[in-house]
Amino acid sequence: MAELKLVGICGSLRKNSWNRKLMLAAVDAFGPAIFEEGNLRLPLFDEDLEAEGVPEAVTELKELIRAADAIVIACPEYNKAPPGVLKNALDWLSRGGAPWTDKPVAIVSAAAGRAGGERSQFALRLMMVPFRPHLLMGPEVMVARPKDAFDDEGKLTDEMARKLLGELMGALRTAAELRTA
Ligand SMILES: Cc1cc2nc3c(=O)[nH]c(=O)nc-3n(C[C@H](O)[C@H](O)[C@H](O)COP(=O)(O)O)c2cc1C
Repeated sequence: MAELKLVGICGSLRKNSWNRKLMLAAVDAFGPAIFEEGNLRLPLFDEDLEAEGVPEAVTELKELIRAADAIVIACPEYNKAPPGVLKNALDWLSRGGAPWTDKPVAIVSAAAGRAGGERSQFALRLMMVPFRPHLLMGPEVMVARPKDAFDDEGKLTDEMARKLLGELMGALRTAAELRTA
């Protein structure tokens, strides 16, 4: 069987983002795969801009999603909701073609608050509905107070989070293998 292609999407553009660390922990838990991170540094969605020509970065992201066997999205929480950069990317990706259809997708979140981004993660699940991915329902991985859950090298050390992430990414791998079999 060909090596699985795993795409990671991090809803934070921040250099030291906890969500990127969580995304990389998820990649590790997924096991052997060709991994690539999607770039969310896209122009703001604007139908006039779209009419002038879809930006190259959008086309690249869409092709990456289309070619992926599985996707993990690490979603921060901004004011109890997913960040605008993620919604912006979803809106761009929704236009012309349907790269998410039936694609196995896992969502994880890390947030400073004690719920670990639960509301944001729930909202993202609803936001994904129009794209009809194969969205894994669980286990839900929400990392609260991330500075206590990662070590200085950025490795996820919280035992419960590691266990749940292992289960979620195992389920994502199984879904990807079934789809490519
Ligand atoms: C604009 C803004 C709004 C935020 N709102 C929330 C929130 O609603 N819930 C929460 O737990 N943390 C909130 N935070 C804190 C983030 O969880 C924290 O900054 C986190 O580290 C962001 O994710 P990142 O490390 O991946 O960039 C907010 C941060 C910002 C900048």
